[in-house]
Amino acid sequence: MSTNTTDQAGVRVAIVTGASRGIGRSIAMRLARDGRHVVLVARSLPPLNDLKSQIESGGGKATAVACDVGDAGAVGKMVEQIAEQLGRVDILVNNAGITRDNLVLRMSDAEWDEVIRVNLTSAFAAIRTAARPMMRAKFGRIVNIASTSGVVGNSGQANYAAAKAGLIGLSKTIARELGSKGITCNVIAPGFIETDMTANLPGQVKDHVVGLQAVKRTGTGDDIAAAVAYVTSDEAGFLTGQTICVDGGMTMC
Ligand code: NAI
Repeated sequence: MSTNTTDQAGVRVAIVTGASRGIGRSIAMRLARDGRHVVLVARSLPPLNDLKSQIESGGGKATAVACDVGDAGAVGKMVEQIAEQLGRVDILVNNAGITRDNLVLRMSDAEWDEVIRVNLTSAFAAIRTAARPMMRAKFGRIVNIASTSGVVGNSGQANYAAAKAGLIGLSKTIARELGSKGITCNVIAPGFIETDMTANLPGQVKDHVVGLQAVKRTGTGDDIAAAVAYVTSDEAGFLTGQTICVDGGMTMC
């Protein structure tokens, strides 16, 4: 783990998993711009180091950490180390996620297990560890990045929809357990966002989704980052247990 500074002096520390690209990268850049010390987490360090340099050259603060969030033990250790080295964990954004799509009759145990582990168990492990420093500080903002698939379901995504729906139940429970300690927990559920995850989907899928939306364009990482910036702000202390669908009005749930 590379650590560039300690933050005991009032700068809020924000852990963002899956920060190397896509939505996580946009969230990290936005939180850094808003003055957070951002802890960038992904499987390998080189792309994170590039992002760290970019944030620092803009006057922001960042720390890069390699961690496979599919390993719950490693996730717990990573959060613990950050709390020790930076002195605090104020914001946790569980964003890392994968898809292994298949129709349910063809879905293998491995496809099911991997998606549940990376998308859902990782968030549980990170929250369980981050809750301690947050409780000590009487402040915390937890955001889990789910998906509209977890709200309304999606053919071919039994594993992914179950994991994302699991994040919603997890978040409501955390909101209830920790609300009295100054800790909020919310879900952002993106619709169709242009990233590597959606890059290989056929054009008709994209057109179909946009056709279902009120806003006739695909979403961007910045659309999601703006919502995360608000729910992780100090002023959002009365908002908890919510699922906010940022999907151009596709579901309106
Ligand atoms: P992406 O595939 O572009 O990026 C995923 C990020 O997660 C990468 O940084 C990757 O390194 C990291 N990651 C994946 N597995 C990991 C592991 N085992 N350990 C550590 N890091 C790991 O995906 P995208 O589109 O940016 O998605 C981000 C989140 O948003 C995911 O949770 C995804 O399910 C969710 N989402 C995305 C939508 C979209 O349309 N792109 C729609 C709804 C939800």
